[in-house]
Amino acid sequence: MDKDEYYRDILEGLASYYASPFIADILATASRFPAPDLGAALNKNQISGKQWLVNELHRVAGGRFRNIHILGSWYGVLAAMLLHDERFDIECVVCVDRDEHCKPIAESLNRTQIEHGKFHAITADIYQLDYERMAAGNGPGSIPDVLINTSCEHLDRFEEWYAKVPSGVLQVLQSNDYYACEEHSNCVPDLQAFQRQAPMSQLLFAASLRLKKYTRFMLIGYR
Ligand SMILES: C[S@@+](CC[C@H](N)C(=O)[O-])C[C@H]1O[C@@H](n2cnc3c(N)ncnc32)[C@H](O)[C@@H]1O
Repeated sequence: MDKDEYYRDILEGLASYYASPFIADILATASRFPAPDLGAALNKNQISGKQWLVNELHRVAGGRFRNIHILGSWYGVLAAMLLHDERFDIECVVCVDRDEHCKPIAESLNRTQIEHGKFHAITADIYQLDYERMAAGNGPGSIPDVLINTSCEHLDRFEEWYAKVPSGVLQVLQSNDYYACEEHSNCVPDLQAFQRQAPMSQLLFAASLRLKKYTRFMLIGYR
């Protein structure tokens, strides 16, 4: 038996046992887009960091949201985790990433949610997002009630982006001290440095999560 068939059988069995459309969407996506970093997006560290976010967001702000934007959203794993979590009642999650390869993979991973009109993926540079224009509009382009950015370590012009973030929108930010990754142009050494980089007028949560190779930092609050 080849390895693909072996793992496909296991994932199919798990999707059936847990009656999980999320696992079924993961399996279909892995078959259609066998990119090695899809595995990285779903690895234990990535899922732990995102499960931490989902739990703390629910604890701090509850589960009812109209429109959540996830910036630097990669393959949309966090969107799927939020939308499949039964504690949450979210009208729509919009994923924004500048890499054009991300959108079709994120749409595949969130296929079930697209069918319910709850998921949109956009290819855009987050430095170019114009929240004032969004405030005047509707649909996926409208201003969110929660803005999540778990890719702060990738933003070499972090201050420029953060200055444009609307102050009335709940922010959920993650960064890390994983300097060894060459794509990380904006790591921070500790939680205090992250707080200095992203000052909040109302800070609701600030903590660190020690993972195998690095520490992840998270802030929740209003700029
Ligand atoms: C490796 S991934 C995500 C890592 C992160 N810790 C996470 O899982 O949330 C970083 C993503 O940020 C995106 N990204 C980086 N700079 C961006 C920008 N200026 N606008 C939009 N997306 C950006 C990249 O294209 C990539 O998909």
